[in-house]
Amino acid sequence: MNITENNGIFIIETENTQYVLSPDEAGRLRHIHWGKKCKRESFVLPAKRGEPNSNHTSLDEMGTEFIPYGSTCYRVPALKVEYSDGCREALLKYKDYKITEKDGKALLEVFLEDEAYSLSVTLGYAVRENFDIIERFVKVKNNSDKNVLIEKIASAEFTLPSKRPYLSTNFNGAWGSEFRREETEVKNGTLIYETHKGTSEHTYSPCFILSQDATEKSGEVYFGALAWTGSYKVEINRDYSGVTRAVIGLSDFDFSYILHADEEFVTPSVYCGYACSLGQMSNEMNAFAVENILPRRYAKEPLPVLYNSWEATFFDVSTEGQQLLAKKAADIGCELFVMDDGWFGQRKDDHAGLGDWYVNDVKFPEGLGPLVDTVKKLGMKFGLWFEPEMVNPDSDLYRTHPEWAYHFDKRTPSELRNQLVLNLTLPEVREYVFNCMDSLVTKYGIDYIKWDANRPFSESGAENLENPRECRLRHIRAVYEIADLLKEKHPDLQIEACASGGGRAELGALSHFDMIWTSDNTDPVDRLDIQNGYSLLYPIKCMRAWVTDTNRHSRPSDWDYRFNVSMQGSLSIGGNLLKYTDEELEIHRKYIALYKEIRNTVQFGRFYRLADFRNDGIYATEYTDENKTVLFVCKSVNSFFAKRNYRVFLDGLEKDAEYKVTYGMDERVYFGDYLMNVGLNFDMGGTLESELVIFEKA
Ligand code: DGJ
Repeated sequence: MNITENNGIFIIETENTQYVLSPDEAGRLRHIHWGKKCKRESFVLPAKRGEPNSNHTSLDEMGTEFIPYGSTCYRVPALKVEYSDGCREALLKYKDYKITEKDGKALLEVFLEDEAYSLSVTLGYAVRENFDIIERFVKVKNNSDKNVLIEKIASAEFTLPSKRPYLSTNFNGAWGSEFRREETEVKNGTLIYETHKGTSEHTYSPCFILSQDATEKSGEVYFGALAWTGSYKVEINRDYSGVTRAVIGLSDFDFSYILHADEEFVTPSVYCGYACSLGQMSNEMNAFAVENILPRRYAKEPLPVLYNSWEATFFDVSTEGQQLLAKKAADIGCELFVMDDGWFGQRKDDHAGLGDWYVNDVKFPEGLGPLVDTVKKLGMKFGLWFEPEMVNPDSDLYRTHPEWAYHFDKRTPSELRNQLVLNLTLPEVREYVFNCMDSLVTKYGIDYIKWDANRPFSESGAENLENPRECRLRHIRAVYEIADLLKEKHPDLQIEACASGGGRAELGALSHFDMIWTSDNTDPVDRLDIQNGYSLLYPIKCMRAWVTDTNRHSRPSDWDYRFNVSMQGSLSIGGNLLKYTDEELEIHRKYIALYKEIRNTVQFGRFYRLADFRNDGIYATEYTDENKTVLFVCKSVNSFFAKRNYRVFLDGLEKDAEYKVTYGMDERVYFGDYLMNVGLNFDMGGTLESELVIFEKA
């Protein structure tokens, strides 16, 4: 880790990569290099060039670090402002820089300024010891005495080196099928991944992955993931000269921000890197998130095995019913019992009750006390479901404060799942939400909150704001603020981010919440796909993965298969334990105990996606650390014959070390080189066949 300035050239070095930039003679901040390390003295400023012609301008062509709209720049801008005198362009010139180093983190700040309007822009680049990830962000400060309107502000702009088209990987998901990987070649024009919904959502992810010839073990990959839970925009453009650029940040749709005199605006961060394979990218991001992004309290602790009541009881919760489930959950080894939706207000189904965060006295005549006592006496922690940002029109809260939901006066607010979004930009709403949650956490000693959000924004009127176009931004900031305040007041509280499944599975949520519910779809075959996509950029330990019953959404498969899929993340149980036979409960007991033995390796080890799931219909994933190696092989093709004999080559082992099989195969000791070069053969004769093999390292 190192940041230097040499003859006006800034060189940012991570463990294995370099990022180089420099102001040019005209004060424009030029991008010079991003990728493998070269000798520092090699770098020079890009040569001066005149205008290519009157239609294609030098500003369009040059590699810049952060270009605003203005003058003769017509390409995708990173910034667009309007000054109070009507000038709608910014011209930024390099002013100065600062390099600081503290606690294993080095930070370069490059200061740019629009002199005519006293607007300063700081580009931030932070690196941490032992990682190949750079954190980038932007600060804009209004040093004048007039307002400035920000119409677009990205967190970073990137210029990529090769003129060959890059392959963009993102997702083509939906509710229930999040993280379905999709590749698009960026040949010409602009590829945009964007949401206007106010929340990050199920379709794409706020990230870019641009690769050439990339496999799990080779190639070149440039990537960046935005830490933002609201509307975002990722623009990847390849211009007429073959240069590919990416601009990533807040969505500018129905957005603007009034920057008052002396005010500073800070963008969300984007965490970016260059890697020599998809596998390397994933491992970098996985370890980096644990070390630097997740809320600190639980970042390095393995997550508990959780039981969640949703699929067992849906809204039909009661003291006695939940106590019965809790006893079974504790008996099979669960460590945390979470009561999901249905416990509050007049909640019978999804038509009523959201916003009324008092305990339903018909379902829980003595409050939650008896249930919480039972759970804690059984040695488990207690968790509770909330949907803090929402309100049902059929609720006491809405009847008292209809104006607390986002709305436009002359329109009927549109309901989705019979609910509306609360205007969290109102201080009194934030206070109400915080107080409701805080008082229940305090009263019952709640250890865990599942924070759900089951619809996007609509009718985003917020006339309380000077500029209602700030409401989506301010709403997400309020979500973070409430979560942070709860954690500050209850330092041992864990919070899970959920939004109809995986609608909030990104690094913004993971900067404030401890884990993520990745999808409502618990079908194990679909789940393999979802988990595979998620694992590209997001931390394994935060991926809650439930084992549930076979139901109308989940195809039949045996318990081994279900556990072998869910043990690849943070194992959780979600079925109706009251219906299980003793034999089924014993299977659960066995796997939960086994998971506790391997969870350190799964949640914190290096991991490898070993099989070509698209061609082979096999997902083979290895997790390895200095003690254990865990291998899951799951067949996802519905055929007895396809891939009957499948060979898996392990990865990342020490070639001369001995690995002793302790589970899943005949006990035998293998050398690392054998496992990596000769591999293991699996006879996958069933349709949904799965294997788990555990090795202890000698
Ligand atoms: C959506 C979540 O994803 C589910 O797990 C469950 O909590 C329901 N909401 C409850 O309404």
